[in-house]
Amino acid sequence: MNYKIAPSILNADFWNLEKEIKAVQCGGADFLHLDVIDGQFAPSISFGPTVIESIRKHCHLVFDVHLMIHEPGKYIPDFVNAGADIITIHAEGNYHLHRLVHQIKSYNKKAGVALNPATPISAIQYLINDLDMVLVMTVNPGFGGQPFIPNVLPKISELKELIEKKNAKVDIEVDGGITPAEAKMCADAGANVFVVGSYIFKNKAFDDKKRAVETIREALCA
Ligand code: DX5
Ligand code: ZN
Repeated sequence: MNYKIAPSILNADFWNLEKEIKAVQCGGADFLHLDVIDGQFAPSISFGPTVIESIRKHCHLVFDVHLMIHEPGKYIPDFVNAGADIITIHAEGNYHLHRLVHQIKSYNKKAGVALNPATPISAIQYLINDLDMVLVMTVNPGFGGQPFIPNVLPKISELKELIEKKNAKVDIEVDGGITPAEAKMCADAGANVFVVGSYIFKNKAFDDKKRAVETIREALCA
């Protein structure tokens, strides 16, 4: 299985961002997960396209932009220009999900839809063949460092079944509270992309963030 690791910089040390990103890059990360939060869709405020554009100039990882914002359609061109490779919007609150997905694809970018813990798979049942990725939230959106919600695991298996049934080519990304143990459980349920925030960036056990990424990979390949 081709597993992808996507460190989320939400909990990184922004004073040392260059060092932090270089470390995960050297540790074999595949994606850089960029959490954009506006304080309306979800209860905190993070960063926007300008920050992403600055990082893009120096980082070769796949930019995985997770939009937790109200009316994302207004800002999709800004994130495309900032250098996003994958843009994920939420199923919740976006009445015209099909239109937004195709707006992202019109820029030749990959499109993902995120589902909050309480949102059922049926929200994307008729959209699955149009998507590149489904992001299954394993915490409620807004903050890093929250505990993984195990009740979401059956949803990952259900999604995997739907993808196979519809013969779709869609990645399953999990996001929230992921450590090596949770990554393994999610992989067993069918996930192949793993967002990891605090375990890498707020972990006293690792001076070296590179090593934190490696321990996730080792758990997945065990
Ligand atoms: C939460 C974000 C996550 C978060 C992950 O709203 O979408 O990407 O930063 O961080 P951890 O791994 O600490 O849960
Ligand atoms: Zn995220």
